[in-house]
This record gives sequence, structure tokens and C-alpha cells, in this order.
Amino acid sequence: MIAIGCDHGGYELKTTVKDYLSQQGITWRDVGCDSADSAADYPDYAKAVTDAILRGECEKGVLLCGTGIGVSIAANRVRGIRAALCHDVFSARQSRWHNDANVLAMGGRVIGTGAALEVLKAFLETEFSNDERHVRRLGKLKNMSNGELSVDFKEENQHGKL
Ligand code: RB5
Repeated sequence: MIAIGCDHGGYELKTTVKDYLSQQGITWRDVGCDSADSAADYPDYAKAVTDAILRGECEKGVLLCGTGIGVSIAANRVRGIRAALCHDVFSARQSRWHNDANVLAMGGRVIGTGAALEVLKAFLETEFSNDERHVRRLGKLKNMSNGELSVDFKEENQHGKL
């Protein structure tokens, strides 16, 4: 199951994405918004998508806003979420293979529907490599989410500079 959310800037693209997923026999859950005609706050929909993933109800998410930037920033504030803003197929593949991204973000005002569906396809069909070096880097990301300080930051702090 794929969780899909958008603000008004991503609404049109969301209808295209849902149609594509249905054609592919992939189940989805639309968490809103429900119209392109009234302004919606992208953090609300990013939260709904990431909640569905963290609860284990959806494996991955797609978030759409005007640029994809707002939803990706919002989603990446959530521990356990790795959102990738991709407008090309290569990045979408790499985001899965190297980064094990669990959310794809795109901008409805940036990318055309044909290209967006190619990006989505690449994102969905690429597995994580499970390569040791990528696993190690994901572990470091996890430590960052847990508030671990960097070495330089800790040293600065010890010298009372902060
Ligand atoms: C809405 O106007 C726009 O700011 C939003 O869709 C998104 O692009 C934000 O990053």
C-alpha cells in the first residue's frame, strides 16, 4: 500500500499518480488534500503520509506539492523517514538503491505527468542495495535523528564556544 498526499500545488499530479497506481494493481491510500482550488498546508499531508508509514499501514509514500520542496522538508523532519525529492529517473533509482528512500516527493508545478510517472515507476521498482557501505550510512542518518552530536560540535561545546 502506498500513502499519497499533496497540497493544492500537487493535487492535479496526485490524480495522475493514483490512476497510474490503480492501472498497475498497486493499492494506495489518499490522505488528502481534496482540491486544487483551496490552499492547503503541506506539512499536514506530509505528516499524514509519514504517520501511515510509521504505523506500518503503508510501505512507502508519495508526497506532492508545487515544487516538492515543502513536502520533502516536512517529511524528512520525521524520524525513520527518508524522503527523496526527485524529478529524474536516475535520482529516483539511486534514492532507493543507495538511500533506501521510503517517500518520493515531486513538484506538480515542476514536472510533467509523463516524466513524473517514469520517476515514480523507477522509485517503486528499485530495491535497496543492502550494500554494507549504504547500510552504514543509513545507520549514521539514524544516529543523527537520535540527536547525536558531530565530533566538531562536541569539541566546540567542550571549549565553551556555544
Ligand atoms: C504553495 O503555493 C507552494 O508553496 C507549495 O505547494 C510548495 O511548493 C512548497 O514547497
